[in-house]
Amino acid sequence: MSAFIVLGAQWGDEGKGKMTDYLAEEADVVVRFQGGNNAGHTVEVGDKQYKLHLIPSGILHDEKLNVIGNGVVVDPKALFEEIDYLEGLGVKVTPEKLVISDRANVIMPYHKILDVLKEKARGKNDIGTTGKGIGPCYTDKVERSGIRISDLLHENEFKEKLEINIKMKNDYIKLLGGEPLDFHEIFTEYLEYAKRLKPFVKDTSVRIYNEIKNDKNVLFEGAQGMLLDIDYGTYPYVTSSNTTSGGVASGTGIGPNMITNAVGIVKAYTTRVGKGPFPTELLDETGEWIREKGHEYGVTTGRSRRCGWLDLVIVKTAARVSGLTSLVVTKIDTLAGLEKLKVCTGYKLNGEIIDYFPASLEDLAKCEPVYEEFDGWGEDVANARSYEELPENAKVYLNRIADITGTKICIVGVGPKRNQTIRITKEL
Ligand code: GDP
Ligand code: IMO
Ligand code: MG
Repeated sequence: MSAFIVLGAQWGDEGKGKMTDYLAEEADVVVRFQGGNNAGHTVEVGDKQYKLHLIPSGILHDEKLNVIGNGVVVDPKALFEEIDYLEGLGVKVTPEKLVISDRANVIMPYHKILDVLKEKARGKNDIGTTGKGIGPCYTDKVERSGIRISDLLHENEFKEKLEINIKMKNDYIKLLGGEPLDFHEIFTEYLEYAKRLKPFVKDTSVRIYNEIKNDKNVLFEGAQGMLLDIDYGTYPYVTSSNTTSGGVASGTGIGPNMITNAVGIVKAYTTRVGKGPFPTELLDETGEWIREKGHEYGVTTGRSRRCGWLDLVIVKTAARVSGLTSLVVTKIDTLAGLEKLKVCTGYKLNGEIIDYFPASLEDLAKCEPVYEEFDGWGEDVANARSYEELPENAKVYLNRIADITGTKICIVGVGPKRNQTIRITKEL
């Protein structure tokens, strides 16, 4: 039995979807434990490309069980759109293949409206959220006024909770200059969703626990990444959940001692969508070159991703906070052709070199990246299928990542497709 985690070790979009799909081969169950449809996970199999947001990336395999855990926030409208989209591409999404926690909180129309209105009210200090209602939904969960999937399945309970929420949220919406919502419209709409949801809903903690006890292998698929973590990210420019290993136990209802490995997904350079600090950002033509070559545009919002050199202070932080047992380095094919490459190994702050991420954004703004320079590799690596086939300079780059982070590299990505993957160590 093994229960391993796949996590983003930067600011999201590291290639978690592709790696989850690839590693799902070694798992029986794939579980999402946090976030919602703010995530955008791209998986390419054969000639087809799939864009997943809420549904675990194990869904493309016929025989795997996929679980949306209690720590996820579920927008039923978005969920059914995604199910219909997948079915349209020939992927079956049945209650045998997908189960959803009865304890997951539900994204309601007022969450989406408030997400947008609050961003507007923040003015120049906006976070650059995806506008999917993630923050307001988690706010309600913590404030104890959230509506959970189990509430949708109990009409009276749902009615009572929705009535109070609509009353309070309408006051808030009006205060921020928005249009109030109609209770009956939402009540009717969500009762329809409840009917369609019902066959998928289970106590997923019990289900995952039993799978593990029955010697099955479970993969926990992270969304977002290290520095979008609500506690250890670049607060407040973060998402509203724990994207690090700690989120797995609370977001699925299993004990942390059941988790055997944690794999950090690291893009060979750094990207970020939305606002907030980014010490190694490249605002020049090299940044532009990486964005175009790596197709760095958001899957969920279509926004340009900001690009920069690989920052190992971030990856080291991920290794520490999430207890990473190995790294997957993705997109080394994108860097092919650059003459010189830089990697940030520490920050200079007030005359001292530090290798951890400061909590204060003011301190972070003072940090100057300390770089190590590498010779690039001219050769295209997209067809390499073993470590030996990689150019020497790419090997030097990879070995240095492992050295500095003190974490072995188990897999290297050389393209978006399932088979464009080099396995270095069997153990994760
Ligand atoms: P996620 O959010 O972490 O799942 O990542 P995204 O799907 O948002 O962004 C990663 C993008 O890179 C997707 O378009 C993937 O298809 C693609 N990708 C993943 N791994 C590789 C790789 O090794 N090389 C290349 N060229 N593309 C990759
Ligand atoms: P995946 O799983 C990259 C960013 C948003 C914004 C901040 C808060 O594809 O890696 P939110 O809507 O969550 O309140 O927005 O977090 N963000 C992501 N950036 N990849 C993601 O997911 C993201 N999900 C949220 O751009 O800066
Ligand atoms: Mg993404």
